[in-house]
Amino acid sequence: MTTLTENAIEILRENDRGHYTVPTKGLYPFQWNWDSCLTALGQRHFDEARAWTEIETLFAHQWPCGMVPHIVFHKHDDGYFPGPDVWATGRPTPTSGITQPAVAGFALRRLYDRASDKVAAEARVQALLPKVAAWHRWFYATRDPGGEGLVAIIHPWEAGRDNSIDWDAPFERVPTDGITPYTRRDTQHADPAHRPTKEQYDRYLWLVEHFRGLGWDTAKLHDASPFQVVDPGFNAILIRACADLADLAEGLGMTDLAAENRKFAARGLAAMERLWSDAHGQYLCLDRVRGELIDSASVGGLLAAFCAVPPARAAAIAATIEAHGTRFRVASHPPADPRFDAKRYWRGPVWLVVNYMIADGLARAGQEDAAARITASSLDLIRESGFAEYYDPITGAPLGGGRFTWTAAMVLEFLA
Ligand code: DGY
Repeated sequence: MTTLTENAIEILRENDRGHYTVPTKGLYPFQWNWDSCLTALGQRHFDEARAWTEIETLFAHQWPCGMVPHIVFHKHDDGYFPGPDVWATGRPTPTSGITQPAVAGFALRRLYDRASDKVAAEARVQALLPKVAAWHRWFYATRDPGGEGLVAIIHPWEAGRDNSIDWDAPFERVPTDGITPYTRRDTQHADPAHRPTKEQYDRYLWLVEHFRGLGWDTAKLHDASPFQVVDPGFNAILIRACADLADLAEGLGMTDLAAENRKFAARGLAAMERLWSDAHGQYLCLDRVRGELIDSASVGGLLAAFCAVPPARAAAIAATIEAHGTRFRVASHPPADPRFDAKRYWRGPVWLVVNYMIADGLARAGQEDAAARITASSLDLIRESGFAEYYDPITGAPLGGGRFTWTAAMVLEFLA
């Protein structure tokens, strides 16, 4: 009988394109930013050198301004929309023009701390560290122009939680008129009932065309976007990455980078308080255009536990997850909310990468039991339903793409 570990390694090898890994065949045929960083954490269990390469390939496509794009289009593939011609970012190897959660700093630290070949790890981390630091600097310079300590996303794809209920209200401001007619490809690979709607896609595309019209000048896009949302999960990942990078830099004698990232992390952590909601027992998104918290208790506000939030906040988050009451945790939206949809992408389903980061953060905050329950539930899902992209939190049914890379990577981490 093949074990879960063997299955996971087989999926990671199958989706490996040599120096980068595709999230899954068909639906996502290129390199995605946060997928790659989390994938490396799985690869380290059977090929440490290959794990470093995954992140190095991503950073080889960093923009001169410091941004690391959310997709690198290494090879032509017309099975995905929007492709490089729609983005038209003018990069030597085509990339998208928006970014994704800054999980790289955390991934570097984990790879380094747990490396068996410390000499090789040190050389590779030393080369990557200034690049990751440049990305962090870019975030705070362009996405926090008011110096609040928290960055905004300007497109839902940046959060990775594409169709979260969190974006419904601010998305009302994004028009759809004038967009170039298009054909979706995602719904040819996955069940349309499990994917974002056409109306959401129209808005995703409007934003892309709007930013393209501004020549992808990343210094201008934040202020020019009708969609500016401060997502607690996105910020928590960045804050954790800054703190992890600071520790790494300190150990390697890179004192300036350490001090800079320490400052980003401390400021960000203090500013997170503004996003806390006692009523929901979690953090909420802030609509920066309106200056108001968004009344939607999605998983981004639980993922905030990934950074060093105060212990009482972590305890409240653990209790909120418990109160969801779903058989499988962590639902990406609370089932008691009438907007919850158990099968539609980020409007209810469980995602293993999010589980991993929440469990890691809760364990660090002393909530070991809550963390262990998340890990056990994640592995139960795999045993019952295989390595899917995401899962119905009530029935455990597998949803979206199959033989999914980052799901497999997380299983190797959960089993370690
Ligand atoms: C998609 O196409 O579904 C991605 O999430 C956007 O990068």
